[in-house]
Amino acid sequence: MKILGIESSADETAAAIVANGRNILAQTVSSSQDILIKYGGIYPEAAARKQLEVILPVLQAALNQYKQPLTTIDAVAVTVGPGLIGSLLVGIETAKTIAVIFNKPIIPVNHTLAHVYANWLLAPNNSQLTTNNQQPSFPALCLIVSGGHTLLLLMKNHGDFAVIGRTVDDAAGEALDKTARLIGLPYPGGPAIEKLAGDLPDHFHFPRGMINSKNLDFSFSGFKTAVLREIQKQNLPTNLQLITYNSQLATSIAASIQHAVAEVLVSKTVQAVETYKPKSLLISGGVSANILLRKILREKLLQYPQTQLFIPEIRYSTDNAATVASFAYYNYLPKKWHDIGVYPSLSEFKLKKRTNLVKYE
Ligand code: KG4
Ligand code: ZN
Repeated sequence: MKILGIESSADETAAAIVANGRNILAQTVSSSQDILIKYGGIYPEAAARKQLEVILPVLQAALNQYKQPLTTIDAVAVTVGPGLIGSLLVGIETAKTIAVIFNKPIIPVNHTLAHVYANWLLAPNNSQLTTNNQQPSFPALCLIVSGGHTLLLLMKNHGDFAVIGRTVDDAAGEALDKTARLIGLPYPGGPAIEKLAGDLPDHFHFPRGMINSKNLDFSFSGFKTAVLREIQKQNLPTNLQLITYNSQLATSIAASIQHAVAEVLVSKTVQAVETYKPKSLLISGGVSANILLRKILREKLLQYPQTQLFIPEIRYSTDNAATVASFAYYNYLPKKWHDIGVYPSLSEFKLKKRTNLVKYE
């Protein structure tokens, strides 16, 4: 079964064609990050306008890679939430148009849960795109770390996700984006911090929120305040960013931010591995592209040989449409185009079999 996936929930516009949930036959991503840098973050109106401009070229590029007519696909999968309403609608209306013209079913997809499926993807020649040469087995523990979510899920099967840990305030990516901005780094903050920090040590030891709590929840607000306080100590001249005023200090703060975020994510994930003894650990979402996080996690997981660690290729950690198509294959609940809605604040709670969406509790 070949599914065309479409993703447009925030600042990426993406299309992909995936066979049987695993083999990527085509995949393109266009990012609006360059235009968002000047706004210092996602500016919904600008993001949606950019999505409109690029959706058809992105789709065309995916079809050029696929080299077959669109009629040969079996279904269209599209992200219906969570995300920015204007951006989501661009992908949804495109998917609906294809469904109407070619009489194809649509599978609505939850963007957050789709991230997990980066760990099932393979290149067209079957070569692995994750660090592990097997297919994930259940029960799987999923760490989803993106700009909007920080979640630990226990996945007993496809479509059977239970939330076992989540952030009580900011998401990890959001904390990176906000603290990067405090230093004077561009959006998105995670990669900018990573680049600046290199492999410098953790000088500031910013607080690791809830690291000693018994539950598996996360908190990043205390850490954010600690970074702000450290910067305020500098009494920066007005209109001068820390990065231009004292780049050495900014670099050291960036390194400490990266250590704080990576360590707290790893610590809670390891706690979950000990509690649930999963067969697989699947990491996904933009923050999981972080090299330091990957390194610490790899080292820690050596102590738990019963749990196979899966780390996707970096371009499938961040937003893309291959994960959307893969999710749709394994959670195949086709709908007619007129039954597809937009759900900007879709939550990550229980997956409702009936709709593929999730219920607020
Ligand atoms: O999953 P994603 O691409 O989009 C959302 O669904 O939000 O995640 C975006 C987040 C941003 O907060 C960005 O700063 C962060 O992922 N990010 C990273 C890295 N690449 C992206 N954080 C740390 N290190 C990276 N290399
Ligand atoms: Zn995402």
